Amino acid sequence: MVLDSKNFFFLSILPIMKLKWLGHSCFIIEGNNRIIVDPFITGNPMCNLKPEEIIVDIVAITHGHSDHLGDGIEIAKRNDATVVAIHEIAQYAISKGAKAEGINMGGGVKIGGTKIIMTPAWHSSGLDETNFAISTTPAGLIIDSGEVIYHAGDTCLFSDMKLIGELYNPKVALLPIGGRYTMDVWQASMAAEWIKAEIAIPMHYNTFELIRQDAKEFKKLVEEKGIKAIILSPGEEVEI
Ligand code: NI
Ligand code: MN
Repeated sequence: MVLDSKNFFFLSILPIMKLKWLGHSCFIIEGNNRIIVDPFITGNPMCNLKPEEIIVDIVAITHGHSDHLGDGIEIAKRNDATVVAIHEIAQYAISKGAKAEGINMGGGVKIGGTKIIMTPAWHSSGLDETNFAISTTPAGLIIDSGEVIYHAGDTCLFSDMKLIGELYNPKVALLPIGGRYTMDVWQASMAAEWIKAEIAIPMHYNTFELIRQDAKEFKKLVEEKGIKAIILSPGEEVEI
C-alpha cells in the first residue's frame, strides 16, 4: 500500500506495538524502539534464535540470574544498545564494555522514545556470571514504548501489584506462572486481577521440567476474571 498523508496520519495515531516471546521470560518489544527483555538465548531450549540475530536498541534486565541476564551484555555490545538494569548490574555491564543505565525501585530512565521504570519483585538474585560473588536485588519493569507493558520478572504474588496497576495502568502484564521459583498459575491469575491489565501473557514456564505448568489453566482462571489472556508459542509475535 502506498501511504498518502491521510493513511499515514491514521497509522501514526494508532499505536501498534509488537510483542514477541522467545520463551522463558524473554520478549522483544517493538514500539518506539526495539527492546529485548531478559535475553536468555543461549541455553534456552525454547529459543531457536542465536544472540547474533538479535537487533535491538535497549536490553532490559530484571535480575542477575543467568536465565534473565542471559546474553544481555553481549547483545548490547554488538548492537551498541543500552543495558537498563538495577544500578549494580548496570555497573557490571559497563565494566564489561557495554553501555548501561542503572535505575532502581520507583525510578526510571527514558531512552529514545521508551521509558523504563523499575518495580519491586520478591525473589532472590545473585549475579550468576560472577559465580554468585555479587548479590543484586531482583526487579520488575514497566516499559512504555508506545503502550505500557509490565514485565513482572521472577516474583511471588504480592499485594503491591495493585499499586503497580494503579500507578502505571499497564495494558499488558507479562506474568511468571511456572511455580517452584515464582508464582504459579493460580497466584498469577490473582496478579492479573490486581494489576488490572487488559491482557495477561504467561511466561517463565515449561522451559524446564521443574517449571512445567498448564498455561490453558492460567487462561481459564484469568478469563473468568474478565481479563484477556494470550498464550504465546515460543517465537510467536502479537500486536497489542
Ligand atoms: Ni530468577
Ligand atoms: Mn528465572
